[in-house]
Amino acid sequence: MKFPGWVSPFVLHDKGILGMNRRNIDYISAYNERRYFPNVDDKLKTKLIAEKAGVSVPELLMVIRTQREAESITNRLDGLQQFVLKPAHGSGGKGILIIMSRDGEMFVKGNGDKLTLQALIRHLSNIISGLYSLGGRTDVAIMEMLVNFDPVFSDLSYEGVPDVRLIVFRGYPVMGMLRLATKASDGKANLHQGAIGVGLDLAIGESVGAVQYDRPIRIHPDSGAALEGISIPHWRTLLLLSARCYEASKLGYLGADLVLDKARGPLLLELNARPGLTIQVANESGLIPRLKKIEALDSISSDPEQRVDYSIQHFSKRGKSADLFV
Ligand SMILES: Nc1ncnc2c1ncn2[C@@H]1O[C@H](COP(=O)(O)OP(=O)(O)O)[C@@H](O)[C@H]1O
Ligand SMILES: [Mg+2]
Repeated sequence: MKFPGWVSPFVLHDKGILGMNRRNIDYISAYNERRYFPNVDDKLKTKLIAEKAGVSVPELLMVIRTQREAESITNRLDGLQQFVLKPAHGSGGKGILIIMSRDGEMFVKGNGDKLTLQALIRHLSNIISGLYSLGGRTDVAIMEMLVNFDPVFSDLSYEGVPDVRLIVFRGYPVMGMLRLATKASDGKANLHQGAIGVGLDLAIGESVGAVQYDRPIRIHPDSGAALEGISIPHWRTLLLLSARCYEASKLGYLGADLVLDKARGPLLLELNARPGLTIQVANESGLIPRLKKIEALDSISSDPEQRVDYSIQHFSKRGKSADLFV
């Protein structure tokens, strides 16, 4: 399948592109109850509710809650070669420390830099004091297993872990995108920082288009790898995990970020109650027709498998490219 050319915002408007205001009012406010926001804004809570709903997550290794716990962590680090430290209330990748290996007394980060034990304790202390949390409130530090990403992506991401973002509406996956880190995005899969968004056919998990800085692209700028013809393994499992996030979080409109671990397969990294809208540009399709279709259903199935079947059946781009691509 050939990638389409540039689609003007005017044409996208005709395709039912969801804008920020409408997303906030008609979907986030209407379908996400405020009291459930902590389910996704607190990563520790997300982990617990996800596991309960049968959604696999990177294993929780420990929680560091106080400055005293941070200072006396030395013995608890024995034998831990690889791990990730993050603020429970962090966002945008801030405060995340990825340790890939140990070299004598030193901890080796994802980019090769080395950290002393004292520096690691200082980082924990900063997390707990709220340096990376919303509003600067005190926080807790989570230590979790390092995700070793599936080698199918090795040419496709610069340093960071590629992730799959799925928008889930009332428990139905409606649109998906692969996010790839670039040199410009500093190993993070954040689109605003220059990561690539690859639109995915929801039925089969194959790439249908790609954007960087809101512009269509065809090759990864750092590796030169083609962005056409990417096929995501374990696609149905990814859809199923995202669908189960509805039961887990009780949020009607959400973004689920999933990763593929070499050993454990699909895992949920985090949930978002206010997922971004660029996914539509990567897919060259608007969310509105899909959301309307779900809103028009007589009833919402309580079976995540059935919801996935419905989404696969109704939200494929196969056979529709002629009228969707200009
Ligand atoms: N367990 C992990 N293993 C490897 N990389 C991780 C892990 N957790 C987070 N990361 C990296 O950090 C980024 C941000 O992590 P995430 O949990 O999504 O927090 P945030 O809310 O800050 O986006 C991820 O996209 C990934 O690149
Ligand atoms: Mg994230």
